[in-house]
Amino acid sequence: MARRRTAILISGRGSNMSALIGAARAPDFPAEIALALSNRSDAGGLALARQAGVATAVVDHKIYAGRDEFEGSMQAMLDIHRIELICLAGFMRVLGAPFVARWRDRMLNIHPSLLPSFRGLDTHARAIEAGVKIHGCTVHFVEPELDSGPIIAQAAVEVRDDDTPETLGARVLTQEHALYPAALALVAAGRVQTDGARTRIATVRQG
Ligand code: GAR
Repeated sequence: MARRRTAILISGRGSNMSALIGAARAPDFPAEIALALSNRSDAGGLALARQAGVATAVVDHKIYAGRDEFEGSMQAMLDIHRIELICLAGFMRVLGAPFVARWRDRMLNIHPSLLPSFRGLDTHARAIEAGVKIHGCTVHFVEPELDSGPIIAQAAVEVRDDDTPETLGARVLTQEHALYPAALALVAAGRVQTDGARTRIATVRQG
């Protein structure tokens, strides 16, 4: 099966992007990372993508009159690169409903909490504050509402008594780097079906 051409959208350091690029080097990985696209020209991840030989592009949201114009420009860039799947990886812009609808079931996001708990920012501090014993990360299909949409995969970590947001966040990030490639592989292989708010993952028959 042809590898699905995938764009990764970033705004920052791009550690999840690097994990996806690394995993996609395996010849049997069902997605190919064809583009790293950032809304910020100073995103650290852009240099990492270039070093890895991945095409990069910047669409700076600040120069556009509004969200529609910004997203129109991103869509043009995605079309030029014949992108079939999008992974949001620390992309810190809220996307409008038309763009989200266009990429329905083809745009993934990773969020550093066990959704639907702790949408938004500062998830590790809020998890500690709330006293939860289990925290983690989620990969989901993107819907217009922030950090929501059918869940594809989750990974959990134990919250320790002496955790700070930094120590907890570091353990979650390690899980993110394994979870995101695994979730993208499932989607790119056509094994994820959405069913309302839920997804179903097809099992692979051996032999
Ligand atoms: C990651 O922890 C990701 O889960 C989070 O931003 C970080 C980006 O780091 N995303 C969100 O909070 C989205 N709501 P990275 O640039 O090193 O991948």
